[in-house]
Amino acid sequence: MNYSIDELREGALKALENISANDALANWRSQYLGRRGALGKLFGTIGRLPQAQRAGFGQQVNALQQELDAAYAQREQLIQSQLLARDLEEGEIDISLPARPQGRGGLHPSTRTHREFQTIWADMGFQVYHSRDVEADEFNFTLLNLPPHHPARDMQDTFYTTNSNVLLRTHTSPGQIRAMREFGAGGTKPIRVILPGMCYRQEQVTARSEIQFTQVEGLAIGRNIRMSDLKGTIAEFARRMYKPKAKVRFRASYFPFTEPSMEVDVECFLCGGAGCRVCKYTGWLEIAGSGMVHPTVLRNGGYDPSVWSGFAFGMGPERITMLKHGIQDIRYFWGNDLRFLQQF
Ligand code: PHE
Repeated sequence: MNYSIDELREGALKALENISANDALANWRSQYLGRRGALGKLFGTIGRLPQAQRAGFGQQVNALQQELDAAYAQREQLIQSQLLARDLEEGEIDISLPARPQGRGGLHPSTRTHREFQTIWADMGFQVYHSRDVEADEFNFTLLNLPPHHPARDMQDTFYTTNSNVLLRTHTSPGQIRAMREFGAGGTKPIRVILPGMCYRQEQVTARSEIQFTQVEGLAIGRNIRMSDLKGTIAEFARRMYKPKAKVRFRASYFPFTEPSMEVDVECFLCGGAGCRVCKYTGWLEIAGSGMVHPTVLRNGGYDPSVWSGFAFGMGPERITMLKHGIQDIRYFWGNDLRFLQQF
């Protein structure tokens, strides 16, 4: 029996010496130290020995087990450190390799214009209010003094949802009613807000018109707001947005929700008013629709028109962005073409 133990020891240690990989090491372990391994079998024979020999033999097998355990642990550590050394050598990072370029994202040109707008209006005391894109017919039209069958409804080709009372807003003006009702405290508080957002119209898509575009609505409500306030405020905006001494002119117009109504032109900032292709040789660029809030609209917002008055305007930032960057086609805005977007 002693002979067998020595033989086992010798064979096991020799085999271990030749092992340099993890899976071979695992095999070795189960072959010798596993429950059905060589040592296990030796333990199994103890019971069959004469009583007198059992204790001595058991001690020998125990000692061998400890020895093999220790040898195993040593070998395992050796293999790990060899593997690590090899990994470090082979996986060495070549820091002289040039890095792969990482594209930097940028803001959409329309977002940039909106931010400029918001900064200027915020400086003038206007808060930004985001009204909803999906509107009730009532807010988009009726409460803005456009009752059903009003001929002015034809001005706007509307996208309706499957519910004919629910639509995609055709302009940001319904936000006027929402702002008055939300912030007016029942028609007792003044308001100064701008309402930027996407608008939708079912139109033929061309270089000049898209089915979606953004607007920036403005609304000021107070006790003594007059048309001179509207003119002064918009003129100040134009001076800050375009150039310090930009001239502004107001043309009589019509909107059902303002009375009187005016279209606002700013001196063409490309030719300085001399006349060019962009301003169609008029020297002027149209930047907004505006007017004094119609008494019916004030009433629908909860205000008494004999005490309160206000002005409103609606601007189209895309046109301004197009003029500023010489963008020829409005379809680029929502086309998600990186070649276009990367230019900004
Ligand atoms: N909502 C109008 C339009 O879409 C613009 C406008 C807003 C006019 C506010 C007057 C006052 O054309």
